[in-house]
Amino acid sequence: MEKFVKNTILAAGNILLKSRKKNLKIEKKENAGYVTEADLECEKFIIESISNEFPGHSVLAEEGGEQLGHGEYKWIIDPLDGTTNFVHGLPCFCVSIACEYKDEIIIGAIYNPVTNELFFAEKGKGAYLNDEQITVSKKERVSDSLLATGFYYHKGEKLDTAIDKFRKLKQGSMAVRRMGSAAIDLAYTACGIFDGYWEKGISPWDVAAGLLIVKEAGGRVSNYTGRDSSVYDREILASNGLIHQEMVDLLNG
Ligand code: IPD
Ligand code: CA
Ligand code: CA
Repeated sequence: MEKFVKNTILAAGNILLKSRKKNLKIEKKENAGYVTEADLECEKFIIESISNEFPGHSVLAEEGGEQLGHGEYKWIIDPLDGTTNFVHGLPCFCVSIACEYKDEIIIGAIYNPVTNELFFAEKGKGAYLNDEQITVSKKERVSDSLLATGFYYHKGEKLDTAIDKFRKLKQGSMAVRRMGSAAIDLAYTACGIFDGYWEKGISPWDVAAGLLIVKEAGGRVSNYTGRDSSVYDREILASNGLIHQEMVDLLNG
């Protein structure tokens, strides 16, 4: 499975890279940013690769919805995470592929084709960036930490709450970044660039791979109250573990 996932995500990333240079058809989704030809082409390629290799496996993909198979495996795919960056030419976007078995994520891969960074984790086997094992940071206090967050597409009241939390975490930390790709936020938390990341309004395909990569790198993942969370929860808090409780307190303070 590892070889298949790595080959597939590298090829999918190249599809995005090539599409960047073409004059793409771009549409705006209501309250949900853009969808481009690149998303669709990339997703089609990944789903076809999975059904050729593993006929019968289920698929949950951002653009195509859910396709039910008959087994206990489900692939959770974001063919392009960081679409707004992609559309505007900011080189911070990636492909995210995860495999769930009996309701547990067992494989996660995230690939940024511009920087050529491939993050990979298999349950129980550690997390890797381009074949080098990675671990979360060792920062012990939020005041020394570089954090990341995101804001989902809906505006209005929910945005006010998100900005309120942003203010608290910004005041409490060294700095906060907003990369525009939840998967990259998680990957960078796993390799210790970020010490923690939080976001509300995320979808399973945004976080499924990254959640496993952070855990396998020694980090902790929960909801905002610090309880274990699943990819189907709409909020996530990921950190190096050491600053987790402090982040929970700031998010709920
Ligand atoms: C979005 C990005 C963004 C996050 C949003 C996601 P998309 O995914 O991950 O960073 O803040 O919540 O929806 O639309 O680029 O695939
Ligand atoms: Ca996404
Ligand atoms: Ca997407």
